[in-house]
Amino acid sequence: DWNMPDYITEAVEKIRAQVGTDEVILGLSGGVDSSVAAALIHRAIGDQLTCVFVDHGLLRLDEGKMVMDMFAKNLGVKVIRIDAEDQFMGHLAGVADPEQKRKIIGREFVEVFNAESGKLVNAKWLAQGTIYPDVIESAGKGKKGQTIKSHHNVGGLPEHMKLSLLEPLRELFKDEVRKLGVALGLPHDMVYRHPFPGPGLGVRILGEVKKDFADLLRRADAIFIEELRNTPYEFIAGQAVDSDNLPKNWYEATSQAFAVFLPVKSVGVMGDGRTYEYVVALRAVQTQDFMTAHWAHLPHALLGKVSNRIINEVRGINRVVYDISGKPPATIEWE
Ligand code: XMP
Repeated sequence: DWNMPDYITEAVEKIRAQVGTDEVILGLSGGVDSSVAAALIHRAIGDQLTCVFVDHGLLRLDEGKMVMDMFAKNLGVKVIRIDAEDQFMGHLAGVADPEQKRKIIGREFVEVFNAESGKLVNAKWLAQGTIYPDVIESAGKGKKGQTIKSHHNVGGLPEHMKLSLLEPLRELFKDEVRKLGVALGLPHDMVYRHPFPGPGLGVRILGEVKKDFADLLRRADAIFIEELRNTPYEFIAGQAVDSDNLPKNWYEATSQAFAVFLPVKSVGVMGDGRTYEYVVALRAVQTQDFMTAHWAHLPHALLGKVSNRIINEVRGINRVVYDISGKPPATIEWE
C-alpha cells in the first residue's frame, strides 16, 4: 500500500529521468486511467506533455467540454481536441454488426490519433494509462478478445511512429489509480466515475449508429445518471453492497449504469395524439470484477421519475424499459 505523496514524488522523478527533455504525447479519452496518467506526467514534465483528445462523437453529454475544462482550463495541460464526429459517423454508416463497429471505431481512433501526433514532430514518447489489470488482461483473451481497450491501451505502436512507451500506471490497481488521481488534484466525481467503454455510445446504440440516435441517447443517459446521483441511497433487499462502506447515492451504489438506444418504434399517447417513437432501455448493475454482475434493485420511485423525465424531456422517445438480466447469461453492455 502506497503513501500517495511519496508515490507521486518517486513517480515524478522516474518520469523525468526516463524522458529527459523529450516531448511526450498522450491520447486522452476522458476515462480515469488516461486522465490520471496525464495529470501525473504533467506534474513531472509540464509542457513537454501534449495530450490529444479525439472526440468520436460517441461520448456522453458534455463530456468533451468537461475534459477540456478540467485539463486545459483548470490544470493548464496542453490538450489538442480533435472533433472527428463526421469521420466516425461516415465510416459507421450502414454497419450494424457489433464487432464490426468496434473494429471501425478502434481503427479510426488510431488513424486520427496518429495523423495528429505525426504533426508533433518532436514527440519521442507515447504515454498510455495502462494499469496492472490491463497488463494481465492483454496476456489472455476475453469474450471480445483483443478488442477490449486495444485502441487506447495495449494495442502496440504503428511501425513508422517509432515512439517509446511511457506507462507510469503499469503497476497500479484501479483503486490505487483513483487515489493517485485525487492526490494529483483531479475532481473526486471524475475519478470515481463508472467505467465507459472505448467504443462509447457506438455499442449502446443497437445496430446502425446514427447521429440522431446518439443525440437522443446522450440526453436520456444524462437524465438517468443525474437522478442516480441525486437520489440518496437506501437499502433494498437483494442488493450486493459493501455494508462497511455505505454509498451516499444510487450512482455510488451501482458499478455501472447507462441507457441503451433501441432502434425500435412503439405506439404511445401524448395529449390527444398518438405517438410512434423509439425505446430506451436502462441498465444498472452491481459487480466486483465486471466478469459477473447482478442487475441493481433500484427503487421504483427512482425508475418512475427517470422514465417520466426521459419521455417528457426527450422528444423521440416514448417508452422506457428496465433491464433485469444478470451476467451471465446477459453481458453488461447490450452489444
Ligand atoms: P460486458 O458487456 O462484456 O462488459 O459484460 C464488461 C465490461 O467491459 C466493458 N466493455 C468494453 N470496454 N471496449 C472497452 O473499453 C469495449 O469494446 C468494451 N466492451 C465492453 C463494459 O462497459 C463493462 O464495464
